[in-house]
Amino acid sequence: MGKVYVFDHPLIQHKLSFIRDKNTGTKEFRELVDEVGTLMAYEITRELTLEETIIETPVSKATCNILSGKKLGIVPILRAGLGMMDGILKLIPAAKVGHVGLYRDPQTLQPVEYYVKLPSDVEEREFILVDPMLATGGSAVEAVNSLKKRGAKHIKFMCLIAAPEGVKVLQDAHPDVDIYIAALDEKLDEHGYIVPGLGDAGDRLFGTK
Ligand code: URA
Repeated sequence: MGKVYVFDHPLIQHKLSFIRDKNTGTKEFRELVDEVGTLMAYEITRELTLEETIIETPVSKATCNILSGKKLGIVPILRAGLGMMDGILKLIPAAKVGHVGLYRDPQTLQPVEYYVKLPSDVEEREFILVDPMLATGGSAVEAVNSLKKRGAKHIKFMCLIAAPEGVKVLQDAHPDVDIYIAALDEKLDEHGYIVPGLGDAGDRLFGTK
């Protein structure tokens, strides 16, 4: 069963409150999502492994630590996932970036992939799949399917706000994928919006309606 980690850092929680506020306009919303992306990247990278190396300082040799292990790949789910990308890349600038685009089939209401582009060394990378909202879980499950179909073996899912329903759907479908969130909200409403949530993340990021 995938574990759920809630990033309760005070700065993340503070900024998330203003992201939720319906009176926060597009510019500020975008800036705050970007900042929380950076802070969440800081938290999620706590688990990266280090290896010792010898560095020569101006004074002497020193045994220091540098990152080792798998290289990272960041994959925003289009389009709202793009809002967290730059913030994440500020901390992990060398990460490769993939994209997954999904649309909802009007008949089945299921997400269908229309665009996937990943780094070539998929099997070697540790992927962080990014979407601000984990609502029904349908898109998250399909996006993980898209990555796994192409050989990805190590995937984490990161979002701002999750609904319990979406967490369960993702955990059931992909028990190997851990979930990293800033808040676990109450429920979904009858339209599939997270309550209390923040509204439509894509529309608020891009100023569309
Ligand atoms: N997607 C959003 O952008 N908001 C929700 O509340 C649910 C899904």
